[in-house]
Amino acid sequence: MPLTRTLDDATVVITGASSGIGAATAYALARRGADVVLAARSEDALRRVAAHCRELGGRALVVPTDVTDAEAVRQLAAQAAAEFGRIDAWINNAAVGVVGLFDEIPVAEFRRVLTVNLLGTVHGTKAALPWLDAAGGGVVVNNASVLAEAAMPYQSAYNAAKHGIRGLSDTVRQELRVTGRGHISVCTVLPATIDTPFFRHAANHTGQELVPPPPVYPPEVVAETIVRLLRRPRREAYAGGAARLLGLQWRLAPALAERVLGWYTARTQFGPGVRLDSTGNVFRPDAAGEQTGGWHGRRRQLVRMTAAFGLAAAGTAVGTMAAMNRRARADR
Ligand SMILES: NC(=O)c1ccc[n+]([C@@H]2O[C@H](COP(=O)([O-])OP(=O)(O)OC[C@H]3O[C@@H](n4cnc5c(N)ncnc54)[C@H](OP(=O)(O)O)[C@@H]3O)[C@@H](O)[C@H]2O)c1
Repeated sequence: MPLTRTLDDATVVITGASSGIGAATAYALARRGADVVLAARSEDALRRVAAHCRELGGRALVVPTDVTDAEAVRQLAAQAAAEFGRIDAWINNAAVGVVGLFDEIPVAEFRRVLTVNLLGTVHGTKAALPWLDAAGGGVVVNNASVLAEAAMPYQSAYNAAKHGIRGLSDTVRQELRVTGRGHISVCTVLPATIDTPFFRHAANHTGQELVPPPPVYPPEVVAETIVRLLRRPRREAYAGGAARLLGLQWRLAPALAERVLGWYTARTQFGPGVRLDSTGNVFRPDAAGEQTGGWHGRRRQLVRMTAAFGLAAAGTAVGTMAAMNRRARADR
């Protein structure tokens, strides 16, 4: 079920709102007159985002919150409801990343990625449900990634957490339906690579500079997808054409898609620079309220790379049909 009221009358909580997609989503909602509740660890950055939301026409409340702390997230919900009287939608968007080979990622960082990304979503969803129920309906949006469906080398912790978010969303959606709470929708967003500071924030154990694998889409693409989901909820929505194509490849021919994406991303997620090991923003906040990551050059490759993904998808489809034909002939 969609929101019970229009966006200009709705209250939306956004975690990870101090940067990137969270900030872009706050602006997209504020522009439509929504009341936004902004949560992340970096209070100064949240205040900057809130100030811009107010300029755009929305009311904004800043609640510094670490999503790994279940009680703090419960308090976030309580403060949002105390300020605006209700909660209509909750966007679980906070996440961190650690880039490195599986056997080189320290267990503490692996655990923290699972705790922020997956358990943070658990805490947010648990905090949101009673308020959405009290409002007579509402929407939970879990911002996962196309890496909730596909996988990418050097990102094992992130991939594992994002796959978990997809399974969590599916289960909670089922439970809401079978317990007569179908007025609450749970949606999963599967974005492609997005131009945010994420790749500068991530912990790095590769010795190399990290860059986003193209094609890179602007954060507004995800923000507008989220706005559409609030108005017309769906189980899942891709954000960025490359994510849709990759999802299709992964479903049609997973073994081939796994090989192609592994080969492709192992060559495109590193820049020429040398980098010392770092834990990035995994344990400490590092957000500055920036919406984009400045990867404009890689954005320009969007058309070429989308075409390459399209060709690979077409090749996958042809290969799959040929394999099915061969199998059908063998069965006859
Ligand atoms: N960029 C991409 O290519 C891409 C692609 C697909 C999906 N996504 C997803 O999009 C979402 C937003 O990422 P982004 O690209 O916008 O990256 P980002 O700019 O690094 O934003 C991450 C946000 O999460 C917050 N955060 C991190 N740890 C937190 C914690 N313990 N408690 C509360 N907030 C925390 C950060 O703020 P503080 O440091 O202030 O806490 C920041 O606001 C993530 O779920 C990410 O997985 C991104």
